Amino acid sequence: MAHGEDRPGAIDALIPMLQRQRRSARHCREGVARRLGAAGIAAVDDHRLESPRSSDRFPETSARLFDWWTMGIDRHVQESRRLGMELAGVNRARRTSGLVVLEGFHAVTHAVRFGAEILGAWTADPNALEDLRQRLATDVQFPVEVVDMAALQAVVPRGQLVAVARRPSQPHPDTILAGPGPVVLLEDPRHLGNLGAVVRVAAAASAAAVMTTGRQNPWHPDALRGSCGLHFAVPVYHLHAVRTQGRQLVALDPKGEPLTPAEFPRAAVLAFGAERDGLSDQLLSQAQRRVALPMAAGVSSLNLATAVAATLYALRFAC
Ligand SMILES: C[S@@+](CC[C@H](N)C(=O)[O-])C[C@H]1O[C@@H](n2cnc3c(N)ncnc32)[C@H](O)[C@@H]1O
Repeated sequence: MAHGEDRPGAIDALIPMLQRQRRSARHCREGVARRLGAAGIAAVDDHRLESPRSSDRFPETSARLFDWWTMGIDRHVQESRRLGMELAGVNRARRTSGLVVLEGFHAVTHAVRFGAEILGAWTADPNALEDLRQRLATDVQFPVEVVDMAALQAVVPRGQLVAVARRPSQPHPDTILAGPGPVVLLEDPRHLGNLGAVVRVAAAASAAAVMTTGRQNPWHPDALRGSCGLHFAVPVYHLHAVRTQGRQLVALDPKGEPLTPAEFPRAAVLAFGAERDGLSDQLLSQAQRRVALPMAAGVSSLNLATAVAATLYALRFAC
């Protein structure tokens, strides 16, 4: 998250605002502590909110509150209220279009790093979380509410952290298709973990977008778990029908001609089929080319996400 330059100024601005929001200093402390979790409790205890210049004396905790501030505390608090964003609301958020549930440290940190608007985040172990953050993602900070383990496990049985974010707005798919870079098209993928893994490698290899057709919602929480939150790093669309906007449609198919990356169009739509049945006859007949990743004798196909990864990186290395 971007950091501003004037942290003490920000905390000073935060304090009177929080004081206004609560009738008494005690309510103010409880409100901040509930929303900021351990960091908030420590910060509020240390700073005693009635002391306007306390941030000068505690720059580290000021920094934490500043991170909350940079996310827009006003907006966040209003949103949480409007959406009733409490831990108990996470399951409802799973079924709410426009909201995204992120499970686990990597999913949340990736999402935050790529600009996710976090509406609530919950952990039962803030120390372990902070330890992970220090080791793996010091560039990312987000406010977390501390809840008890039983409450957290009721929502995410194996989770250490769960968050709800607003689904990002994305350009129209035709805008993406009119731009540069390969677009990955998955025709009716069935396995959400595979779908998430495709989004992850598409983000890593700088694909322009992932577009899917068929029965699965690519924004399903299981797909988000598979992508480690990288749905926030690359546009992801669910289409009713294949769109190309004049791009070449290339079918990746084990029975195609061997892939020669140097001759490949840079901005094609790369179509991959379903796990069991591969690409439909309809899509194969629509495609201008049908290409295969070479395999050793006796191997019938690659896993879907592996095939996407091999194709995207073959194109990247050929550039
Ligand atoms: C698990 S495979 C499907 C296997 C299916 N039985 C078939 O023959 O296509 C899923 C998708 O990955 C892609 N794929 C897998 N191995 C491939 C290869 N060697 N060359 C090109 N594409 C491949 C294709 O798009 C395929 O539809």
